[in-house]
Amino acid sequence: MKKSIIFSAIAVLAFASAYARQLPVYLDESQPIEARVEDALSRMTLDEKIAVLHAQSKFSSRGVPRLGIPDFWTDDGPHGIRPDVLWDEWEQAGQSNDSCVAFPALTCLAASWNPDMGQLYGVSLGEEARYRGKDMILGPGVNIYRTPLGGRNFEYFGEDPYLASQMVVPYIQGLQSCGVSACVKHFALNNDEEYRFQVHTIVDDRALYEIYLPAFKAAVQKAGTWAVMGGYNLYKNQHNCHNQYLLNDILKRDWQFDGVVVSDWGGTHDTEQSITNGLDMEFGTWTDGLKTGASNAYENYYLAQPYKRLIVSGKYTDKELNDKVRRILRLFFRTTMRTDRARGFMCSEAHYDAALKIACDGMVLLQNNNATLPIDPSAGKRILVVGENAIKMMTVGGGSSSLKVQREVLPLDAIRKRFGDANVTYERGYVGDTTGEYNGVTTGQDLRDNRSAKQLIAAACDKARAADVVIFIGGLNKSDYQDCEGHDRKQYDLPYGQGDVIEALAATGTPVVVVNVSGNAVATPWRSHVAAIVQQWFLGSQTGTAIAALLAGDINPSGKLPFSFYERLEDVAAHALNTYPGTWRPDHKIIDEEYKEGIFVGYRWLDLKNIKPAFAFGYGLSYTTFSLKDAKISAKQVAASDPHLSVSVTVTNTGKRAGAEVVQLYITDQQSSLPRPAKELKGFKKVYLQPGESRVVTLDIDKDALSYYDDKQAAWVCEPGKFTAHVGNASNNLTQHLDFTVK
Ligand code: GLC
Repeated sequence: MKKSIIFSAIAVLAFASAYARQLPVYLDESQPIEARVEDALSRMTLDEKIAVLHAQSKFSSRGVPRLGIPDFWTDDGPHGIRPDVLWDEWEQAGQSNDSCVAFPALTCLAASWNPDMGQLYGVSLGEEARYRGKDMILGPGVNIYRTPLGGRNFEYFGEDPYLASQMVVPYIQGLQSCGVSACVKHFALNNDEEYRFQVHTIVDDRALYEIYLPAFKAAVQKAGTWAVMGGYNLYKNQHNCHNQYLLNDILKRDWQFDGVVVSDWGGTHDTEQSITNGLDMEFGTWTDGLKTGASNAYENYYLAQPYKRLIVSGKYTDKELNDKVRRILRLFFRTTMRTDRARGFMCSEAHYDAALKIACDGMVLLQNNNATLPIDPSAGKRILVVGENAIKMMTVGGGSSSLKVQREVLPLDAIRKRFGDANVTYERGYVGDTTGEYNGVTTGQDLRDNRSAKQLIAAACDKARAADVVIFIGGLNKSDYQDCEGHDRKQYDLPYGQGDVIEALAATGTPVVVVNVSGNAVATPWRSHVAAIVQQWFLGSQTGTAIAALLAGDINPSGKLPFSFYERLEDVAAHALNTYPGTWRPDHKIIDEEYKEGIFVGYRWLDLKNIKPAFAFGYGLSYTTFSLKDAKISAKQVAASDPHLSVSVTVTNTGKRAGAEVVQLYITDQQSSLPRPAKELKGFKKVYLQPGESRVVTLDIDKDALSYYDDKQAAWVCEPGKFTAHVGNASNNLTQHLDFTVK
């Protein structure tokens, strides 16, 4: 009652002042947004309110033409602006002006551990979106990396909720600073792709609140995302696109989210649940969300005529409807109804520079025996490049994040350019995926090669014997059952027999550098036989330029892993406990996937079980060396009510070339009433230092950094007792330990 009095008071006051100026309040940008919302709402008819709730085409929804409120355009995806499809089909519209810049996959952004890169990313993407007339980008995705088989992990920020939370916020802020809405997805617990429409996720409250929700909560409360996309899966036996618990209780009540809940494409299943369980905008119904779907009258959507009929029949008032429309109008006034949004631009050099900068900041040097890297381009070394991923475009495929790029610089071309054609030869080594088409976009590449695996390996080894160094560029790709939406990987090993190729090349005695192109960890049983390993994410348009710069030493790698590289799949909690992909119910319609590991995901599990990974979370080498010394803590004792303290450490570049180090802070709660991980990431800072330069890095510790979620009290608890702050440059290389007590 009180709220509506306040709203109407605002409307009256605003109307009065606007009346004096002869401008309707909702059109007056000087008015508070809530007044504009109320005024517009009061002018809308029932039909107009119903119309804005649901799609009118594959990627757009209606505005309110009579009031001069334009239609609303969405588009994928997190790494670049997807090419236009036909109004009501998945077929390409065949535009000649929608080729874009592909920015690196979000695993690369996470691996940069550099929030500045997130801001640069969001602004660059927002400018491309504005130029293309898109008002909401369907991303970023922040689902937690729970299994290395996850088909969409390449679109997300890794295994740790704190890293994901810190890295997603500036991306959203940058994007929305352009007047383009983010749509953080897929809320929530949509952590694998196999059977994604049928998975019923079972998870305890501690894991829900400590692992799977934090990045979404940061997106809402710190970044102020204007939209959230529901996931396809079910939680507590309700579909996530209309879920009382996730949408009404947690997102809108507890977190005070004032934006719009958007369904995933095809994620809506019921009118009354959509009305009462928190859905605001329905898209893509009766599609698989990717590239197939019924061409159907949008008036049949669950929130279209069926909803109107329930209101006209009196079964529902307009209470829920007005809440949905208020949220949608708020979104309009944040985007399409603003006259101050810059026009944006496409494919500018600034965007290519941004894509390169993010790529170079995110690649991870995992191994570099005998300083094999960098390779001096002036030394005239004979380089053999082997592998399909040196020549295969990766911007086409992978599902809804697939793009039509203006250009994609491939590794082999860039390596030839950087080291000189005469010094570089190439061998395929293996044949993986020779397709090059997704949803009507084709790469135009012909990657066919009819030689047998044996012939391919023999040819590569022959040339390896005549080379000074072999650069093997392989890994995964964006085809089905690889790093691709809709399915998960079928194996943890590198596919297509790449392990055999690597071992054979190593056996020639020529040093081998393995460049793994993927958004997931892979088994690396061959790593002791090779000289160097680079984790090179899907880097988009500037892929080749970035990897050539790393190999030549033009840039000094500074990325750190955003997820653990396990030795074997059995070391992964989800697989060790045999919870993946879940257990089918008798009717074979729903598959129950119980996250039995609870909060022990990623390095938390490895610490619990004392399992050593191949490469640890937070690990990454450099071409220079650093020391971390003289760690100090600001207090040995703090009050539980408001525990503010900080840790400082002196970082020195002890090598001969400039570089960047990521100082990481992990917290151990030595005494807790409930089980807690051995340590948890609670702070980090990336510092760029010249040779010999030192810097004191200070990391703050607050109540959040010390608290755990007590599911009995349904509250976050900072419990008195002993804690330890560990500082280092990787989760398995923490060299400074500072104890303190919470009173
Ligand atoms: C897809 C994806 C979602 C995407 C949407 C529109 O199925 O799950 O991430 O934004 O549908 O393409």
